[in-house]
Amino acid sequence: MRYTTLGKIPQKRHTIFKSEEGNFYYEQLFGTEGFHGISSLLYHIHRPTQIKSIGTPKDVTPKIAVDRNITPRMFKGVQVTPENDYLESRKVLLLNNDLKMGLAKPKKSTEYFYKNAECDELLFVHEGKGTLKTFVGNLDFENGDYLIIPRGTIYQVELETTENVFFFLEAHSPIYTPKRYRNEFGQLLEHSPFCERDIIAPTFVEPKDEKGEFLIKVKKENLIWDFIYATHPFDVVGWDGYFYPYKFNIKNFEPITGRVHLPPPIHQNFEAHNFVICSFVARMYDYHPQAIPAPYNHSNIDSDEVLFYTEGDFMSRNHIDLMDFTLHPGGIVHGPHPGAMERSIGKKFTEEYAVMVDPFRPLKITEEAMKVEDKSYATSWLDTEENYLHDRSQE
Ligand SMILES: [Fe+2]
Repeated sequence: MRYTTLGKIPQKRHTIFKSEEGNFYYEQLFGTEGFHGISSLLYHIHRPTQIKSIGTPKDVTPKIAVDRNITPRMFKGVQVTPENDYLESRKVLLLNNDLKMGLAKPKKSTEYFYKNAECDELLFVHEGKGTLKTFVGNLDFENGDYLIIPRGTIYQVELETTENVFFFLEAHSPIYTPKRYRNEFGQLLEHSPFCERDIIAPTFVEPKDEKGEFLIKVKKENLIWDFIYATHPFDVVGWDGYFYPYKFNIKNFEPITGRVHLPPPIHQNFEAHNFVICSFVARMYDYHPQAIPAPYNHSNIDSDEVLFYTEGDFMSRNHIDLMDFTLHPGGIVHGPHPGAMERSIGKKFTEEYAVMVDPFRPLKITEEAMKVEDKSYATSWLDTEENYLHDRSQE
C-alpha cells in the first residue's frame, strides 16, 4: 500500500472542515488492527453513524461435509451454480479458522450496499467486467484482476456482463503484499515481481448527498444483517491514507525464473496470517540444458495447497479444465502426474495462469464443494495406462 488521497481534505487532520455553504464535514478514521495498522481519514457530508433499524440476520454459516481431510481432491468449478444475487452466489468450498474461499457466479448487479465487518475480501475476476463501487471511489474490473477489499469497506458490485465468475476469499487477517519485497519505508524493492504502478487505487466519484433509507448488508460471524441507514453511504467528499480497496491484474505479475526449478515462494503475490496467495503466470521454463521444468515431488508438510486454474491451454489435459480447484493436503506427497515430468523436458514456455492459496492450517470441505468433486483425483498419480493419458496438475 502507499499513501493516496482523493477529493478534498483539510490541511490539518482533526480540525474544522466545512462545505462552501458552511456545513460541517464529519471525519471518520477507517483503519485496521486497532490504531497501529494502516488507516485512512474520510470526510462525510453526513454523520456515518445514523442507523434507522437493524433487521433479523440471515445465517450463512457454511455446512461442513469433511471436517478433517487428508485426501487430495479436485473440484469442478464449472459445475458451481450461478445465482442472480451477488451474496447468494458466493459458494464457500473450503475453509478453516483463518479464511474461507470459493466461487461466485453472480448474474446481476447489487442494488443494496454490502460490508464485511470482520474479513478482508479478495475477489479474483476469472470472467466478467464491471465496476466495484465503494465509499472511497470506484475500481473498474476485468478478467485477471485481483480486487483487494479491506474489512469495513462499504461496496456494490456493478456488472456489465451476465456471465461472471469470481474466485473469492475472505481473510480473518489483513491481506498485504509480501513484506520481504518492501524496504523499511514500505516501498517495493527492485527485485519485487510487481511495483507500485501495478497497484491501482480507486478513482474519485462525486459524493452523494442523499437522505432516506439505505440498506447495507453487514456480514459478521457468518450472519448477514440488514442495516437501514438514514444517509447515502457514498457521501465521502475526500480522504487520504493507506487503507483503501485496490486492484492488481495477474498479467502485471512479472515472473521470476531460473536455470533450474524454483519453488513456489517466487510466485507469491499476497500474504496474510497463516496463509499465502501466489500467482502462476506465463513464463519461461527453467533454462539449464538438463533442466526438468516439472516440479519435483513434494509434501508441503506444513500447509494445504489449493490451485485455481484460470487461463491457459488446458485442452491437452483431459482432466484439468478452467475453473477447476485442486486441493493437496499438507503431509501427503504430491507431484507431477504419470508422464508429466518426462513431457516437460525441453519445453521452453508456459502460457498458463493459476491462483494458488497455501493455508498453514488444514482446510475443511463444505457440502457445496462435495457436490462438484471429481472423485477420481486421489488415485490419479497411480501408474496406470489411463493416468498416463491424462496430464493433470503440475504443482
Ligand atoms: Fe505442490
